[in-house]
Amino acid sequence: MNTLSVKVTKKTVEARDIVSFELMASDGGDLPSFAAGAHVDVHVAPGIVRQYSLCNAPHERHRYRIAVLRDPASRGGSAGMHDAVAEGDVIQISAPKNHFALTAAPRVLLLAGGIGVTPLLCMAQAMAASGADFDMHYCGRSLSSIAFQAEIAASAYGDKVHFHADDGAAEQKLDIQRLLAANAVGTPLYVCGPGGFIDFVMQSARQAGWEDSQIHREYFGAAAVSNADAHAFEVQAASTGKRYRIPADKSVIEVLAEQGVEIPVSCEQGVCGTCITRVLEGVPDHRDMYFNDEEHARNDQFTPCCSRAKSALLVLDI
Ligand code: FES
Repeated sequence: MNTLSVKVTKKTVEARDIVSFELMASDGGDLPSFAAGAHVDVHVAPGIVRQYSLCNAPHERHRYRIAVLRDPASRGGSAGMHDAVAEGDVIQISAPKNHFALTAAPRVLLLAGGIGVTPLLCMAQAMAASGADFDMHYCGRSLSSIAFQAEIAASAYGDKVHFHADDGAAEQKLDIQRLLAANAVGTPLYVCGPGGFIDFVMQSARQAGWEDSQIHREYFGAAAVSNADAHAFEVQAASTGKRYRIPADKSVIEVLAEQGVEIPVSCEQGVCGTCITRVLEGVPDHRDMYFNDEEHARNDQFTPCCSRAKSALLVLDI
């Protein structure tokens, strides 16, 4: 896998449990360009790769900036970034990838929950630079958990960003119904944050008349998926006809890797979309947060890192 060597040139505490990292090419050159909504895979430690959205202005080529929330249930990703990565370190990252692209529109709404602010901050900078209209609403548990407040307030677009603290006064809390009612139905919505926040925004927007295709979302970290109800099934590789039994306690990715069939994988939580595989026959049991309901209903692709099968057999385009 091709990676970029980058140097950590700045590590800054941005809010409670949130640290940002400024990364520059270790050879001092320009970095590959990126568009708002992009992320990089960061090789935190051997065998630990995590996705972090870029949150600096997308016209910048001399640096990337990411921000990392310490997850108390960290399996090595956020804790490794907080505790083991220091200024001056050289780390490996992927080139930027984008599953959450901002499409051109005269006006958009950006809705951030917690650390989900990172791709949206990049979008705010892109919208401001292009002169397009937007409003951003950034919700956090408390003001102390809301990152980049001073930077946003001092920016040219500061008046378009509204902060909402869960533990703050009632009048500053996000009134989603009011916000949606004040915007034309179908105004593109970009939402990023934990699953509960995204579900809340999506349900509210649907009730207010938005179509799913007008709501763009990126989950930040998957809730632990229960596999208590998992059962065994088979997958067949269409290219060879070979079948593999997937027991209840293993993922499709694990079984295929044991058998020498490699599917690219990254988050292993159904969040990033790296492992997407086409399904030619059979019905997947979708357990990812990557696809929307319409995409799930098509049943023509799935995420083998976490999704399973409702049918006894899935034929995969591998
Ligand atoms: Fe990220 Fe499967 S590896 S969705």
